[in-house]
Amino acid sequence: MTEEEAILRLRAAGCVFAEDEAAVLAGAADGERALAALVERRCAGEPLEQVVGFADFGGVRVRLRPGVFVPRVRSELLVRVAVEEAGRHTDPLVVDLCCGSGALGLAVREKVSGLCLHAADLDPVAVACARDNLGGDVHQGDLFTALPPELKGRISVLLANVPYVATRHIPFLPAEARDHEPRTALDGGDDGLTVFRAVLAEAATWLAPAGLLLSEITDAQVDAAIAVVAGNGLTPAVVTDDDLDARVITARR
Ligand SMILES: C[S@@+](CC[C@H](N)C(=O)[O-])C[C@H]1O[C@@H](n2cnc3c(N)ncnc32)[C@H](O)[C@@H]1O
Repeated sequence: MTEEEAILRLRAAGCVFAEDEAAVLAGAADGERALAALVERRCAGEPLEQVVGFADFGGVRVRLRPGVFVPRVRSELLVRVAVEEAGRHTDPLVVDLCCGSGALGLAVREKVSGLCLHAADLDPVAVACARDNLGGDVHQGDLFTALPPELKGRISVLLANVPYVATRHIPFLPAEARDHEPRTALDGGDDGLTVFRAVLAEAATWLAPAGLLLSEITDAQVDAAIAVVAGNGLTPAVVTDDDLDARVITARR
């Protein structure tokens, strides 16, 4: 299949950005037969980033695998706040908890020299993908149980982009997310804050003195998330970026 044919096929399948996507797919395909196979996967609804095996995020190219959460542009706010915070610490220790592909940790590491980075996720496919991106120090397991115990009380910046979609909102997500990203990457329980609460319950014991935790939340979750942070003895603050339609709650020890 030529790139021209790819444009027509994508357009017929309802792809809004057929020209742009055909160019990305052609760039990733090794020949016309390979391009035809990638185009068919895209037409079947798989996210473009999973089809081509990468996402450009926060100034870095992140390798992706099928079934791994695609980093969202709005999460660049998390990276920005984490980079600013890491710059305030000497020899910062950064942890990317619920790391998925490791996109956040990778983008922060690219911008802050000399940091020590650990990442962790429950999902073995995500862990393998994060190892593709980050190399070593990627751990598998449930939240903090995955981390080496010697990190306790030493984390300068704790990125925790946990699943935060309220269960009742899952059916309204785009099909690309519902059908091609694991439910465990999206579903945050009744009000979307179940995993967030579990992280906050332990965060104070893992953060260094004056260390900072950061999580993305929705507008509707702001008041409840602030109460969770304060209820766990940490100091809450909220950072927003209207252009990115992003909200980050921070929790300072
Ligand atoms: C919203 S995705 C974020 C991924 C990545 N941080 C990013 O921004 O692209 C949430 C991630 O949390 C992981 N996860 C969900 N529950 C978890 C748990 N109990 N322990 C560790 N990771 C978990 C999922 O596997 C998924 O990769």
